Amino acid sequence: MQEKIVILDFGSQTTQLIGRRIRELGIYSEIIPYHKYPYGHEADEGIIGVILSGSPLSVYDPKAFTIDLEAIKGRLPVLGICYGAQLMARTYGGNVEPAPSREYGRARLCDIDTSCPLFEGIANGEQVWMSHGDTITLLPESFSRIASTDSVALAAFSAGDKMWGVQFHPEVYHSECGMQLLRNFAVGICGASCSWSPESFIESTVAELRAMLGNDKVVLGLSGGVDSSVAAVLLNKAIGDRLTCIFVDHGMLRYHEFEDVLNDYRCLGLNVRGIDASDRFFADLAGVTEPEKKRKIIGADFIKVFDEEAAKIKDVRWLAQGTIYPDCIESLSITGMVIKSHHNVGGLPERMKLKLCEPLRLLFKDEVRAVGRSLGMPQHLIDRHPFPGPGLAVRILGEVTREKVNVLQQADHIFISGLRKHGLYNKVWQAGAILLPVQSVGVMGDERTYENAVALRAVTSTDAMTADWAHLPYEFLAGVSNDIINKVRGVNRVCYDISSKPPATIEWE
Ligand code: XMP
Repeated sequence: MQEKIVILDFGSQTTQLIGRRIRELGIYSEIIPYHKYPYGHEADEGIIGVILSGSPLSVYDPKAFTIDLEAIKGRLPVLGICYGAQLMARTYGGNVEPAPSREYGRARLCDIDTSCPLFEGIANGEQVWMSHGDTITLLPESFSRIASTDSVALAAFSAGDKMWGVQFHPEVYHSECGMQLLRNFAVGICGASCSWSPESFIESTVAELRAMLGNDKVVLGLSGGVDSSVAAVLLNKAIGDRLTCIFVDHGMLRYHEFEDVLNDYRCLGLNVRGIDASDRFFADLAGVTEPEKKRKIIGADFIKVFDEEAAKIKDVRWLAQGTIYPDCIESLSITGMVIKSHHNVGGLPERMKLKLCEPLRLLFKDEVRAVGRSLGMPQHLIDRHPFPGPGLAVRILGEVTREKVNVLQQADHIFISGLRKHGLYNKVWQAGAILLPVQSVGVMGDERTYENAVALRAVTSTDAMTADWAHLPYEFLAGVSNDIINKVRGVNRVCYDISSKPPATIEWE
């Protein structure tokens, strides 16, 4: 039975980070929506401890999310973080009120109870990160304060020998002693054995896949991205040629990407079919300018092409996908708003009547990369920037044509190879060029030009949920701009996008 720490999600932005930190400690963790805790089945589920996350809500809000703490109390160690801590305090008779001044940002720990196992190895004066509008003003009688900060008297508490609460966020990087505190909880208190690693994951997943799939055939859609590639290599290790991969070229991939990536896949020993379906995609996109419509057309065409190709494989029973953990965490729908309809193959399993196989569904992106490395995949496939399913179509504003794709591919190629050449590629989360439907006047030699503008976008991020524009060196940008304008016909102006997300998004459409 896989031992695990369960994180009950009350909708905080940092819930995923808690999960990551626990995994970084070599301990398997799962994030579950707060109302889906498997009451009564702890022993069966291998749960060794529970963490209650933060939340955008207040515990005294009439619509506050709540759980049956009594059902867990005393049976398993529980750590409440921020809202989680406030929920514990309020449930057992304490007070939570709006803080006189909202408590955000850095604070320093003081008055630590050094006998408390949660604070082992943590000293007064260490920095922690606060982010809350409410604060605990009175602890329940049976609770004891175990730490304060300069501005928050009840920064941490214990309640008997199985419950702890902290009003700060140990999971964020700015909490210097955060990892130590989480280790104290997970290892010291819950007794985790820290045996979760990419190698152990590969070994157990290959065995599970073999048991689950038997002699069945599996089809998988490759996108060129890290997740589907790692899923394919893992499945190939488990079932070899009974896996058929389909790599569809919709015509809007990067410069030479289809050929290069296909070649990489073949070198990895994958049984892969490359399908050039670009004519169909361009025909269906003709005259379409509205971003969502473009996305829908590409998504629908992709499904049709994939479906047709998969139908050519005899007796296929399973559809494999490179779905990863952040795609699955249901909390994303706790606040759920659709800003853009992401192109994926979500509609396929029902339509094709195939069973779904998602071997990476419990991994975070950095773990997927670690698994890929451990499987011996080439570095350039593993370190690839994320790239949207609809490809350059969402980076060509307005109608998409082959000619425009050709122009953008060249500009994008200059930018991306420049990033690689200058050692900047791995310093940004993702980068690309955008072709704007804007023409402006320029002068080349003695001639007037009236041509298109290209925007360059490079962002830093950890999860694509938020992003900042990358502060690339001016000299580098100057060189790229010069190269693009000199070498790409049809472009006479280059801009650099300095918008963060939010309020902008990473892609322009
Ligand atoms: P936005 O533009 O929403 O993008 O800030 C967030 C991240 O998602 C990628 N992206 C997509 N990925 N299919 C994908 O697989 C899509 O349709 C899609 N649209 C955006 C985007 O590149 C960024 O990494």
